[in-house]
This record gives sequence, C-alpha cells and structure tokens, in this order.
Amino acid sequence: MEKSRIAIYPGSFDPLTNGHVDVIQRALEIFDKVIVAILHNPAKKSLFTTGERVGMIRESFNGNDCLLVDSFDGLTVDYAKTKNAVAIIRGMRAISDFENEFQMALMNRKLYKDVQSVFLMTGLRWIFTSSSIIKEAAEFGGDISDMVPEPVKFKLMEKFPKLKTTIETVEK
Ligand code: PNS
Repeated sequence: MEKSRIAIYPGSFDPLTNGHVDVIQRALEIFDKVIVAILHNPAKKSLFTTGERVGMIRESFNGNDCLLVDSFDGLTVDYAKTKNAVAIIRGMRAISDFENEFQMALMNRKLYKDVQSVFLMTGLRWIFTSSSIIKEAAEFGGDISDMVPEPVKFKLMEKFPKLKTTIETVEK
C-alpha cells in the first residue's frame, strides 16, 4: 500500500481568511492529507481562543475528509514528526513575507531535516489580505465579508458590533 503524503499547515489563524482557504485548497491538490495546525500560544494576545479558531476552520471545510484541523504547542517540527508529515506548508503573499519565512524554513530544516518547507502562492486577489488587517477593518465596521469564509464572518460580527451594523445595513 502506498504511504499517504501528509502536510501540516501551521499558523495562528486568528482568524482564518480567504487567503488561508486559497492556500489550503492548493495544498489539497498536492497532498493526500493536510492538517491545519493552530499554534496554541497563551502568551500571544489573540482575538479568538484556540478552540474557536479550530471550530471556525472545521465549519468552513465541513465534509472534506482530506483536511484535518488540530492545535499544537512547542516546535512546529516536533508536531510535524508526530504526524509523520513530509511537508510544512506556508503561504507566500508579497515579497515582504520572504525574509521571515526563509529564516523560519532554514531553522526548521536545521532542527529536523526530513520535513520540507513548501511555499504556496495565494491567488492574486488575496495578496493583500491578512488576519490582522481584516481584524482592524472589522473592529471599526469595515465590510470584510468577502474576505473571510461565512463562519468567520459571523464570529467577527459577534465580536464587533460596528461590523454587525455595517453588514446588516448592506443586506437590508
Ligand atoms: O500565522 P503565523 O503567526 O505567521 O504562524 C507562525 C508559526 C506558528 C508557523 C510559527 O511561529 C511557528 O512555527 N511557531 C512554533 C515555534 C517554532 O517552531 N518556531 C520556528 C522555529 S524556531
């Protein structure tokens, strides 16, 4: 029997954006299984709890057996080992992502040489999206509804009353 090729896609996902969804869909075309792995880091201030983030991603990919959602703490490479992953997926947007990603990939390779970093480019329309810019716009009522999956939109509306007002006004 052929071994299934597993990739992990680690990140904060606070929250999942359509840019992440685009990367996940591309990764699913290459690997048999993709595990979205949310870093559980209580020291880092986040908008959503790890549980909420897991829930939103599961809801957004409901019914896709090739996609698993999990959380981890510690080193990404240690988590990759426990899952027998052959690759660590990272999304690449603009050139500004490159330096940090390059450094992280080299450190990951030094720590564990048997897992490859694979960079996937998001579709052009998501080049400027990020969880942080979406949170900032949403907090002040900016309509971000076409930049995140529906389950994330509803959770953001719960957190930010101004966003709820904007979206409800547009939908009237
Ligand atoms: O979505 P993010 O915040 O850009 O994701 C960063 C993440 C979680 C992939 C990175 O911080 C990470 O891998 N953290 C776990 C600790 C680790 O392994 N660091 C890299 C080598 S020192």
